[in-house]
Amino acid sequence: MTERISRIAGVGSYLPARILTNAEMSSMVDTSDEWIRERTGIRQRHIAGEGETTSDLAEAASRKALEHAGLDVADIDLIVMATTTPDFTFPSTATVLQARLGITQGAAFDVQAVCTGFVYAMSIADNFIARGQANKALVVGAETMSRIVDWTDRTTCVLFGDGAGAVVLSGEEKTGADDAGVMASYLRSDGRYKDLLHVDGGPSATQSVGHLRMVGNQVFRHAVTNIAESMTTIAGRAGVDIADVDWFVPHQANQRILEGVARKLSIPTEKVISTVADHGNTSAASVPLALDRAIQDGRIKRGDLLLMEALGGGFTWGAALARY
Ligand code: UT7
Repeated sequence: MTERISRIAGVGSYLPARILTNAEMSSMVDTSDEWIRERTGIRQRHIAGEGETTSDLAEAASRKALEHAGLDVADIDLIVMATTTPDFTFPSTATVLQARLGITQGAAFDVQAVCTGFVYAMSIADNFIARGQANKALVVGAETMSRIVDWTDRTTCVLFGDGAGAVVLSGEEKTGADDAGVMASYLRSDGRYKDLLHVDGGPSATQSVGHLRMVGNQVFRHAVTNIAESMTTIAGRAGVDIADVDWFVPHQANQRILEGVARKLSIPTEKVISTVADHGNTSAASVPLALDRAIQDGRIKRGDLLLMEALGGGFTWGAALARY
């Protein structure tokens, strides 16, 4: 079989209409706009409306990604959905999305890697395409984090928001080293760190949904170290110099994490796509949200070398390198 590559054919994203500002947050918990902006860079977050579900957000982002790719739902033969906030315990939100899009062919499933979910989903879809098991994959990161945050806990509730992003990967025959497409991915996890970032409920353990709990300052330290490690590892494996990467498209958890990683790897901050100010931490949705923003505003152009990365609960972390 000829070697295949997964080209990023289209990207789309969606944020719910309702905006919750830092000023509003400070009327809900003991916090301030100044504290949130200084410690995180976040100015506002979007919150799903009553009855608005993860699959609603995912559908809106997916339809935009399909339109951007110039493809039809009939072309899609794989949906990999990264989410920590599924519509239901089962069926997967990917199959809910599949039905809503009117797709009856191929396979659809969810991936649970929390904030690293999109990087995991992209890697999985890329492997399916490389093996010839899928040809056109919809890779989605969609979250309604507002449903699992504890709105009385100021150490977490100010950080998270809702949103969705989607990428259409198209299987193409590889012709050379500079082909557009996913070049490498690197996935890691270490379950010993569960207690630093987790949800204190679930169907089997508590028969409830639970709330997000985080020891923020410890997660922060791990994030900078592990993200930097995943970026140097993937660049080394792909034979790429970090300095040759055009755009860094990170998970959007905290502006200070983005800056810490950039400092550590001597990356100019102008090369780092940051959207955290506008939507806070949207978990698995944040990488495709940032990717879509920078494509829409013209910063990311065809042929550019992109490095995506994330760290999340588990811990899970990883990176993906792609030529757009
Ligand atoms: O997406 C998954 C990965 N998640 C992350 O990467 C998040 C990583 N962590 C972070 O982004 C940061 O650690 C936080 C933004 C969560 C916290 O910032 P920090 O600079 O690490 O602050 P801290 O947790 O050390 O807390 C400093 C102080 C504490 O008060 P005392 O004990 O010093 O009196 C907190 O109680 O800030 C207090 N604090 C707040 N004050 C006002 C914590 N949250 C708030 C708040 N408003 N919302």
